Amino acid sequence: MSDPPICDYEDSDYRTRFWEGQGREYEDAVERIAIGRLLPPAGGLLMDLGAGYGRLADMYPGYRRVVLFDYSLSQLLHARSQLESDPRYVYVAGDLYRLPFAAGLFDVVTQVRVIHHAADVPAAFREVRRVIRPAGVYLLEFANKQNLKAIVRFLLRRQDWSPFDRGPVEFAELNFDFHPSWIRKQLDGAGFCPGKTLAVSYLRLQALKRWVPVRWLVALDSLAQGTGRWWQLSPSVFVRSAATASGPTASAGLFFSCPDCSTPLPSPAGLLQRVPPRGQDLVCPDCGRQWPVRDGVFDFR
Ligand SMILES: C[S@@+](CC[C@H](N)C(=O)[O-])C[C@H]1O[C@@H](n2cnc3c(N)ncnc32)[C@H](O)[C@@H]1O
Repeated sequence: MSDPPICDYEDSDYRTRFWEGQGREYEDAVERIAIGRLLPPAGGLLMDLGAGYGRLADMYPGYRRVVLFDYSLSQLLHARSQLESDPRYVYVAGDLYRLPFAAGLFDVVTQVRVIHHAADVPAAFREVRRVIRPAGVYLLEFANKQNLKAIVRFLLRRQDWSPFDRGPVEFAELNFDFHPSWIRKQLDGAGFCPGKTLAVSYLRLQALKRWVPVRWLVALDSLAQGTGRWWQLSPSVFVRSAATASGPTASAGLFFSCPDCSTPLPSPAGLLQRVPPRGQDLVCPDCGRQWPVRDGVFDFR
């Protein structure tokens, strides 16, 4: 597939419409527990791929440098307004199918609530694999079509797609649910070895959330997450994969590469020491394309 479409969150009210004050403390808490269980606690360079407004940016205190990557400049600007005083963060706008980074750069990539917007998952996984160093870690969350609610609805004939079919289902434009076996197959095909898997958010039901205290739901979910090792029947699944041991590791000094022609870009002065420079475009030495820095966000769109 060429040029897969992008689910654009520019100027969306995702933060206030979906998270803040919207009764999703349970979902947020159980996702954080899953990340805490799967993420290596410390390391060098991590990318939160599809970081949005930076909801999970505080999950990486043990990392020397954290790239918050998203297509939406407005989401990243919000993240930056919250985190500006912490020099470990780098803000990069771009398309996940054309990551503007040198091959083998990242020790860890996390991706939560993003792949469900991908119409071409194999291409998305290949691009993540390209920028992860050999044996690096990819922590992926995906929306699971084979969840209990979907199974019940299907059996009661209230849903026309089968949760047992392996292929993705697009239940709304650019919103996909995936079968766990299919995701594992795509990860494998892209050069990852899928490993520890957690089944998350089993109790994501309005009635339960209304009557049961959040801390009880969170405690129960925390106990149930380990069932992901044997079966995945929850709406959300987290899987930690290791990149295969082959492939390049980015040499020192390399960071960005031109998404148009793949040529390494000269690293801007100060990138790895302090906040990104302002008003200083990056220019590709091969194709001549200029990539601006907007309010501290490197813009590769
Ligand atoms: C549902 S939000 C999740 C944000 C964050 N990971 C979280 O869990 O709060 C999905 C994010 O994916 C980003 N996104 C969607 N398609 C993208 C693409 N092709 N390239 C980069 N980011 C993309 C959107 O801009 C949005 O911020």
